[in-house]
Amino acid sequence: MCGIVGYLGARQAYPILIKGLHRLEYRGYDSAGIALISDGGILNLYKSKGKVADLERFAEAKDTSGTVGIAHTRWATHGEPNDLNAHPHYSQSRSLALIHNGIIENYAVLRLELESKGYTFRSNTDTEVIVYLVEYIRDTDGVDLCTAVQLALQQVVGAYAIAILSKDDPDCIIAARKSSPLVVGIGEDEFFLASDATPIVEYTDRVVYLDDGEIAVLRRGEPLRVVDLHNAPVTPVVRRLAMNLSQLEKGGYPHFMLKEIYEQPQTLLNCIRGRINIEGTSVVLSGIIDNRERILSARRIIIVACGTSWHAALIGEHLIEDLCRIPVEVEYASEFRYRNPVILPDDIVIAISQSGETADTLAAVELAKSRGAFIYGICNVVGSSIARATDSGSYIHVGPEIGVASTKAFTGQVTVLSMLALTLAHEKGTVTDERFTALVRELQHIPDHITQVLKQAPAIADLAKTFTYARNFIYLGRGYNYPAALEGALKLKEISYIHAEGYPAAEMKHGPIALIDAEMPVVAIATTDSIYEKTISNIQEIKARQGKIIAIVTEGDTAVRSIADHVIPVPRVAEPFAPILASIPLQLLAYYIAVHKGRDVDQPRNLAKSVTVE
Ligand code: F6R
Repeated sequence: MCGIVGYLGARQAYPILIKGLHRLEYRGYDSAGIALISDGGILNLYKSKGKVADLERFAEAKDTSGTVGIAHTRWATHGEPNDLNAHPHYSQSRSLALIHNGIIENYAVLRLELESKGYTFRSNTDTEVIVYLVEYIRDTDGVDLCTAVQLALQQVVGAYAIAILSKDDPDCIIAARKSSPLVVGIGEDEFFLASDATPIVEYTDRVVYLDDGEIAVLRRGEPLRVVDLHNAPVTPVVRRLAMNLSQLEKGGYPHFMLKEIYEQPQTLLNCIRGRINIEGTSVVLSGIIDNRERILSARRIIIVACGTSWHAALIGEHLIEDLCRIPVEVEYASEFRYRNPVILPDDIVIAISQSGETADTLAAVELAKSRGAFIYGICNVVGSSIARATDSGSYIHVGPEIGVASTKAFTGQVTVLSMLALTLAHEKGTVTDERFTALVRELQHIPDHITQVLKQAPAIADLAKTFTYARNFIYLGRGYNYPAALEGALKLKEISYIHAEGYPAAEMKHGPIALIDAEMPVVAIATTDSIYEKTISNIQEIKARQGKIIAIVTEGDTAVRSIADHVIPVPRVAEPFAPILASIPLQLLAYYIAVHKGRDVDQPRNLAKSVTVE
């Protein structure tokens, strides 16, 4: 979704801002823009529909001088993606420029009020009302810019991260946040501003994450000042970034997605490091141990998430019910938050989010908190809004995920859920010591197994060629592998734009089997597990109707091999970990089909990496 970058210091701002916008491209956007106060004191504003490269071409022969500026990538919500609606937006007199992430819910009322006072709007966005309102308040009340921003934001309903520049105060950027992330980077006599740390990491590792309702005043020659909407001072907490630059580059891979698929043996090692002992006899998730009594007394666990994280949650449901015998409900965060759910004080709510910024998941967390539940977060981005809103939690530690299609975060989430279920099961005594140790040791070996599966990438790339022209796909799985089928279908549709559906294999005969003919590829996850025989029967039913079967099987399998058109073997593992291994070839299959179709794999159309609007 939209991205914000800002710079104020001694260097020329334009190259830093453009590079920052490129770093934020992964979030998904449809237009970009920049505002700079030139060395001659002019507030220049350039914006363009399309990619950051289009903006660069547009700004090529223009005055891009200046040591202070703000820049933005926009993912359209109000008003189509065009030059006019792109950010920044000028105020009416063009003395202010503003960029905004989020949605202003009462913009229509504010706009009417300002129009009745003679203001004329230039765009169809909700954003423009903020900058007009700030200017109106500044000029009619005769207050300084910071006060005008505070007073304006007191009237605004909705979510925002904003940054504002004033021609009349060229040594200052004012930034504010509510429900949309904003990070200030602190360098030597310079400030950086961004919606996440990726544009900042190469300049400084000292950052301040703003909290809701906070306003940052970045002023040349002064330390960072943070105040709330009523001007009460807030002491900024400076944190160290753990991220490094190489994590943000492709490192020789053609796409971030492929790099991230290949990183999985290492990311899962990082995820379990320090949590499982070398001997494989214990698992310690400190977030669980620190809240042992509260979590162990849970009568029910509700998991809220969206998209791929929701698929990980479904695997979590199997793991926790199977190993810990605690009832689990999995909810789409977007539905949960609006349906007056029953949340009891002894419920534990687990929120899963790679970005830690998904608006619906954050709102679900706030709702559950307000009803007294204990909230456990499983996030990737350290310091993200959801991570900070929860009572306890575990990071997945897989490093920045730049490809829009989630891969390593998914396997990291399932790995944390596995460790969480094992920790709880051990504490509750719901698994025998033998089963516990066997599972922990298996989990330790998953990274090696993934390395084995990755060796099949060339064969999967070849197989992908056969299916590049398919118009539909069906993915089937049962038990632990059903969520893996859903995830495989999501990967394919989001990056190749081929329609794909995931089903529990036995559900086919209740309707979807009508779709099967010789044109329909069916990906069946049929690893050797407790319902293997049943899955084979389901595959037979597809075969009998001429469906083309690509099966993920356990190494050494012969039964499925004799029916399927193509097989991809994966190492034998305990049933709870089968979906981790099955998801690797499905990621590769989706990737190569998308590449063969010439799709923009890392930034698929219409998608955003971090969905900060509901
Ligand atoms: C799909 C994908 C999305 C996200 C979803 C939730 O590949 O990445 O479906 O999983 O938008 O995002 P997070 O996990 O950041 O809350």
